[in-house]
Amino acid sequence: MMLDPASTTISLLHPGEVHLWWYASPAIAPRVRRTYIDAVLRITLSRYVAMPPQALRFGRESRGRPFLLDVDGAPDFNLSDTEGGTVVAVARGLRVGIDLERMDRQPRVQALAKRYFGKDEATALASLDGEAARRAFLFAWTAKESSCKATGTGIYGWLDQWTFACDAIGSDPQLTQVPNDATPLAAWQHRRVAPAEGYTAVLAAKGSIGSLSMYRSNEAQAIAAWAEHRVQSE
Ligand SMILES: CC(C)(COP(=O)(O)OP(=O)(O)OC[C@H]1O[C@@H](n2cnc3c(N)ncnc32)[C@H](O)[C@@H]1OP(=O)(O)O)[C@@H](O)C(=O)NCCC(=O)NCCS
Repeated sequence: MMLDPASTTISLLHPGEVHLWWYASPAIAPRVRRTYIDAVLRITLSRYVAMPPQALRFGRESRGRPFLLDVDGAPDFNLSDTEGGTVVAVARGLRVGIDLERMDRQPRVQALAKRYFGKDEATALASLDGEAARRAFLFAWTAKESSCKATGTGIYGWLDQWTFACDAIGSDPQLTQVPNDATPLAAWQHRRVAPAEGYTAVLAAKGSIGSLSMYRSNEAQAIAAWAEHRVQSE
């Protein structure tokens, strides 16, 4: 029922446009989660291509970044999932990365910054008091991870090569350095969004973002019910 293409309206996506889709997670058993996330992604993308959700086929780049097969002029996309919610970014004419985090996370800020951040960033974080440092860390982390997801490298070995001004304000990330093979720095744009209270996310894009729109889906519950049924009948 839920994956019925008849209920899907095709959305137009012009060059430079980015759409973000937020799905607040319903209560869902861990064994159903992968099926649920896969369905969320398929339902989202089927809005942009004239294909039913189940018919979509995905390829993976060498480090796992997924892309759509069999679709002429397929939109670029990226997904991030955390406790309580999922965001899918869909874009045309841009390569995008998205990272979503809960703002109540309590990471080991100084130790992680020393290990994974640039020197200037670690120094800036060390000068902040506890709560400000925690917020600044989460803001910088989402900026870095979204960038690594836009390029497709994954985070390991790359986080310290993307550097940002570190502060606890939470405005759009200010990029200060990119890895050599992601130059020029001026080609990159980053936007911070709060898809729901208590969450922060960054959209990283290589190319110029013409417009960025946020949609909050009311289908999550129905998708979860479909996924539960699907897993039970396997
Ligand atoms: C990819 C990565 C950034 C995801 O981080 P995360 O915080 O666990 O998860 P998120 O919810 O933000 O993102 C997960 C989604 O990102 C996408 N993704 C997976 N690999 C990706 C990559 N290399 N680049 C961009 N996006 C990627 C997928 O849609 C994935 O969802 P899926 O697991 O359902 O397929 C992280 O796991 C990583 O760096 N992995 C290493 C990749 C790597 O080096 N692989 C080598 C294999 S040979």
